[in-house]
Amino acid sequence: MSSEVAFQKCLSASCGSTYSLTETLTGCPKCGELLDIAYEWDKIPVPASLKEFEQRWSSRQNPLDFSGVWRFRELIAFAPEDQIATIGEGQTILQNSPSVAKYVGVDDGNLFLQYEGLNPSGSFKDNGMTAAFTHAGMVGAKSAACASTGNTSASLAVYASTTGKMKVLVFVGSGKIAYGKLSQALDYGALTVQIQGDFDDALLRVREVCQEMGIYLCNSVNPFRLEGQKSIMYRVLEAMQWEVPDWIVVPGGNLGNSSAFGKAFMELKELGLIPHIPRLAVINAQGANTLYDIYESEGQRWNDGQTENDHIEGYFDEMTRENRRASTVATAIEINRPVNLKKCLRALEVCDGVVREVPDQDILDAKAQVGAGGFGCEPASGASVAGAKLLRSQGIIAPSDRVVCILTGHQLKDPTATVAYHSNDQELFEKTLAVRGVHNTPFGNRPVQAENDLQAIMDVIKARG
Ligand code: F0G
Repeated sequence: MSSEVAFQKCLSASCGSTYSLTETLTGCPKCGELLDIAYEWDKIPVPASLKEFEQRWSSRQNPLDFSGVWRFRELIAFAPEDQIATIGEGQTILQNSPSVAKYVGVDDGNLFLQYEGLNPSGSFKDNGMTAAFTHAGMVGAKSAACASTGNTSASLAVYASTTGKMKVLVFVGSGKIAYGKLSQALDYGALTVQIQGDFDDALLRVREVCQEMGIYLCNSVNPFRLEGQKSIMYRVLEAMQWEVPDWIVVPGGNLGNSSAFGKAFMELKELGLIPHIPRLAVINAQGANTLYDIYESEGQRWNDGQTENDHIEGYFDEMTRENRRASTVATAIEINRPVNLKKCLRALEVCDGVVREVPDQDILDAKAQVGAGGFGCEPASGASVAGAKLLRSQGIIAPSDRVVCILTGHQLKDPTATVAYHSNDQELFEKTLAVRGVHNTPFGNRPVQAENDLQAIMDVIKARG
């Protein structure tokens, strides 16, 4: 696909300025609003039915058809094929989980887990990074950067190390990043800058550094990232044999995923490729609940693009004055200033969405249930299952609804939180979980100690039943 069929467009209804794909922008130069990627669909050979994409399964030796992102390339049509940077992202699985269905309270067969942790860098970020990295190549960038709670940095670093195409620089908050993620950025050779501050500070700084030093920014303010992340929804539909579920439930941090999902469904509906749009539930951690506050408590809406900007800015001014900081065991979503807030409001409108907040206790209990009934996930991903359970208990999700929970990150990303939940290490428990208000481990699977003696070991095993 050539660049002529796509362009960048300001999200603001009153501005709506457009820009060529050749420009490197992270906001509208005229009004500062976020940018979207828009398409001239009538010039793109979009298949008449989504089922036609299945033909690409038989040509998987072509890396673009192998990729779980680019085999839907007509729906992400901004890049010439010979410039696409793919590392085999998007080989993910939608698993029907009877035990998690029981935990959430929906009918057997109705709870699905979408394992985005199976991506090359272990999180959903690769879906978007392949797109941003591709665009970086298209504009001739030599270096790229991001701020991260850990997964974006791991993803950017692996695209740089595997393709050898770019130098990368990642900014992380001090002491805030799970070791699995930090280890990835270091191992992949990224220049890793630990900022004394949290993710919100790091993002502010990386934007300044990119501006000053002409470095390509790969955070989700980059509209190309979100184009790639639309493919998560294409794969969910594909796994459901192109039937639309009733609910998509996703954790909310910087709100890139939820924004991308809303855009995906908006476009699929406009193209006549789906009969209706599923409902979207975005789940915040209680200690990082800006979206919940703004949407559910303050009642802010997309309102066809006429957002109440003064009100929203006032909210963030107050946050600054009070020096409110995000705090949750789900460090991936420990974010107070979600940059994609307005795009997410649009997604919530398009998908008749709801937002909920869940405490860390519920996040970790849900995470333990995912582990006991499937491939496991990192804490932030547990928020989607905890959120689904809450919405079920409130009667908003019905037992007969088909619910897809997005598991955004791999189980091995944050071993500290998992071991603290399951083990007997009281010191670790206190400093990792109790400080966040997690005091119970109803699904804890304690390791048992045994002397180095055959009989003693067998006794321990028998005692466990
Ligand atoms: N789940 C995981 C595992 C994440 O890493 C993130 C975001 C989210 C959920 C939230 O997604 O931002 O699209 O709402 N992690 C970012 C990072 C911020 O830097 O890795 P979102």
